Amino acid sequence: MNQALQFLDHHDQQALDELIQLLRHPSVSTDPARRDAVATCAGWLGDHLRQIGMPVVEIHPTAGHPIVYAEHLGAGPDRPTVLMYGHYDVQPVDPLPLWTNDPFDPTIRDGKIFARGATDDKGQIWVHIKALQAMLAAEGGLPVNVKLLIEGEEEIGSPNLSPFVREQAAKLACDAVVVSDTAMFAPGRPSIVYGLRGLAYVEIHVQGPNRDLHSGSYGGPVRNPLNALCEIIASMKDATGRVTIDGFYDGVPDLSDVEKAALNALGYSEDRLRSDVGVPAAGGEAGYSIVERLWTRPTLDVNGILGGFTGEGAKTVLPAKAMAKVSMRLVPHQQHTEIVEKITAHVSKVTPEGVTSEVIDLHGADPVLVPLDAPALKAAKIALEETYQQPCLYQREGGSIPVVELFSSALGVPTVLMGFGLNNENAHSPDEHFSLENFHKGMRAAVRFYHAMARLDAL
Ligand code: BES
Ligand code: MN
Ligand code: MN
Repeated sequence: MNQALQFLDHHDQQALDELIQLLRHPSVSTDPARRDAVATCAGWLGDHLRQIGMPVVEIHPTAGHPIVYAEHLGAGPDRPTVLMYGHYDVQPVDPLPLWTNDPFDPTIRDGKIFARGATDDKGQIWVHIKALQAMLAAEGGLPVNVKLLIEGEEEIGSPNLSPFVREQAAKLACDAVVVSDTAMFAPGRPSIVYGLRGLAYVEIHVQGPNRDLHSGSYGGPVRNPLNALCEIIASMKDATGRVTIDGFYDGVPDLSDVEKAALNALGYSEDRLRSDVGVPAAGGEAGYSIVERLWTRPTLDVNGILGGFTGEGAKTVLPAKAMAKVSMRLVPHQQHTEIVEKITAHVSKVTPEGVTSEVIDLHGADPVLVPLDAPALKAAKIALEETYQQPCLYQREGGSIPVVELFSSALGVPTVLMGFGLNNENAHSPDEHFSLENFHKGMRAAVRFYHAMARLDAL
């Protein structure tokens, strides 16, 4: 193991230079204009994996963006197999004027690398790829069998990865999955994430009159679709922050006292949240602490509203239609397809007379919990504590990684969510960045993780 760590010490600059090359690819999965750039990024990754000595590298085309798969099974059938999952696609960059540097011209400032995808998730997949390279180069092989699955559609809900995982379950067979695509609890405080929320993302369309109308000539007897949409949205939550959709909380258990105490002991105060995001007070469901609201309770949020006149000045118009994008974060044992049915029924029940409505299912993910006694989690704990010299924390996460639930239900294995990001690194926002310290430590922790996994039976 020490040879690989020494190799990393001698190749830090090279690893960073290569990460800069990876970050130059504008692999925005949701943007049709970037289709070729996404494919080029996949090809570049495949070439690099061949260069570092992965004997099997495959680029799988899909109906959407390619899946990069690689394997090195040289450790042999007596050793465990680890599947590393990550994503090379990134979120759109808008609003571009708020970036200090071009999002695809990576720039280093204050010990951080700034670029779209720096922390989510290119910097974090690079941690693993460089750790594998170090072991291959300095130790002549890997301590465990390794499979890599790096997709280009995570940010759009992994529509083509889900069928791939189901169909290729035998090819992807492993003892555990490792994912670095989450944040640490705080700087210097490594954590293992054992729960991810799911997601149900819909559009609500409301149609009123057959054309935009003069709001003086028609206002009153013609119901306004924007007003109707606001009423529909307002009907979905009560004054205590509880979602009022019938059956929304079905199957959501109360937290056990033990888990509740453990999560609350992490000490995430309302003050920390307030000063972090600059709000005057916390919102959300009454009766739950900040971490409970963030990680263990479902939510319903409007992501955007479209309709009517939004230009300069005033225009007296009664719009013909309105649309809202609404997403719900889900927790075990809610299922995204059932939740979409429930919100559809709710919207149709509360849609006022005089307009029609429609709910469209955009994408979703089921929530997942990883058993805390999975031996692979111990390998991560050893690796993180050795690297950060701090006790490793166990936390849940409010975000979603759609395929992780499938690793549990289709492959039957636990996923180790060992993230090196930080929550304030502006994932999905302008000036996204990744801490060079965590990049540096992450590569070392990954080497230690794969080595600890070789001793899985003894953990
Ligand atoms: N890396 C994130 C997941 C995440 C979010 C981890 C927040 C830790 C904190 C992932 O790339 C992501 O953004 N997921 C989307 C999923 C969606 C598009 C299906 C999310 O959570 O919104
Ligand atoms: Mn991510
Ligand atoms: Mn993301």
